[in-house]
Amino acid sequence: MGLAWLGLPWGVDRDDKLMSDTDARHAYGSMQIMQSGSHVEIDSFIRSTIQKNGMQDAFYVLDLGLLVRLFQEWVQAMPRVKPFYAVKCSPDPALLTTLAALGAGFDCASKAEIAQVLDLGVSTERIVFANPCKIQSHVAYAASVGVNIMTFDSESEVRKVKANHPRGSLLLRIRTDDRGARCPLGVKYGALMNEVENLLLVADHLGVPVAGVSFHIGSGARDAFSFADAVAAAREVFDISARMKLHSSMHILDIGGGFTSGSSLKFLDAAAAVNSALDRYFPPEMGVTVIAEPGRYFAETPSTLATTVIGKRVRGDVKEYWINDGIYGSMNCLLYDHAILKYRPLVCSPAEESRNNNFHGDCGSLHTHNSTVFGPTCDGLDTVLQGASLPDLSIGDWIIFPNMGAYTVAAGSGFNGFSMSTMRTFYVFSVNLQGCSASLGFLKCLAPDLMKGCLPELNMDGNIIESWGINSPAIVVGKFQ
Ligand SMILES: Cc1ncc(COP(=O)(O)O)c(C=O)c1O
Repeated sequence: MGLAWLGLPWGVDRDDKLMSDTDARHAYGSMQIMQSGSHVEIDSFIRSTIQKNGMQDAFYVLDLGLLVRLFQEWVQAMPRVKPFYAVKCSPDPALLTTLAALGAGFDCASKAEIAQVLDLGVSTERIVFANPCKIQSHVAYAASVGVNIMTFDSESEVRKVKANHPRGSLLLRIRTDDRGARCPLGVKYGALMNEVENLLLVADHLGVPVAGVSFHIGSGARDAFSFADAVAAAREVFDISARMKLHSSMHILDIGGGFTSGSSLKFLDAAAAVNSALDRYFPPEMGVTVIAEPGRYFAETPSTLATTVIGKRVRGDVKEYWINDGIYGSMNCLLYDHAILKYRPLVCSPAEESRNNNFHGDCGSLHTHNSTVFGPTCDGLDTVLQGASLPDLSIGDWIIFPNMGAYTVAAGSGFNGFSMSTMRTFYVFSVNLQGCSASLGFLKCLAPDLMKGCLPELNMDGNIIESWGINSPAIVVGKFQ
């Protein structure tokens, strides 16, 4: 089965929000539809993008089809838990728009993140201002736009909200740690159990309602039972609050982030632990609304980074390369996110999609060398890979880094003048043929209002939606043949 691309640019002749928000570095137009989104297909897309656009700079490929499937998997695995995507993880506009169209809520940490999400047309009830220590003017902004639910873990935050947000309502963030988490958050955030009663009293005294409890066991959690322990701790806080007979009662549980779509902890194991803990501690008859703040789960795997070799040196047995992205750019995740990078040189990837769909970057018969890969800045710290196994590369060759969507671009800097803001993202949509109609049918039923009348009939040789915006109907247009 081949793919024909009809190439209608997104938003042609349309004055929709998405189009007006689009900037040059996000290549929304002519989004390629793929069959599976395999490494081979992504690499083949990268190759053609390099050729077609004369690419020399590093760029991203983001698979929105995979994002849709991740959303689908989430809803199927944890039907009681509504995801509020953590914008901090990746504020990519197409990623946000897709999640918005699917019906996700959003966890925002600042005024700018709230503004970005509101700009998509998302209603304020779908936003939680989940930063336990907010900048005062940002609280006032939240009040002015009607974003009312916020987290807190200190008395001073209650007073800040009281002074700046007359309709503010709080979730008490409690400390619950997964000790093996890739990025622990407990040292900085989360009230201790022995602080809970006082915090609830202060809020009650000031007339700021505490609507529920939130926690975050740590990003990149490793132990599914940490979720269960945290849910149990949250129930304890609900019980304390009920015993205190406060003016407001609790009805929201926010189970935070920590989920991954692979790697350290299997998503389905985490989901199973959450589900059984919810059944036990928050049975449906309690009427508690359960939300989560996943970032990494949605953002990480759909994004692939393509970088170019811009320099080379041979020192004894070691080959050293410079590439055009590094620690001060996307690979800041090595420092801030404790990432272990996966990589594959494009020259090793089979040119034909059909040759080996299980390709994972193994260079096969090509001889490889102990290699070091540096980023482009003048800092020695800017080292991306050490002890890497790479074939002999030349300047102009490409090294591909998969799973680069979480905490990469979001925290990159412009150090040495290597600006992240000029880095382009190309969007693709893998339909995963087996799940194709299910996946798009699912879209239709999740967002019936948004999708009304605009989804094409789906069959295996029919049209597939190219893209959609929350303020605009889907626009078609790829075709399988
Ligand atoms: C308050 C809050 N919510 C959600 C997230 C997202 O976490 P994750 O990417 O692990 O899902 C973070 C990450 O640091 C966070 O601080």
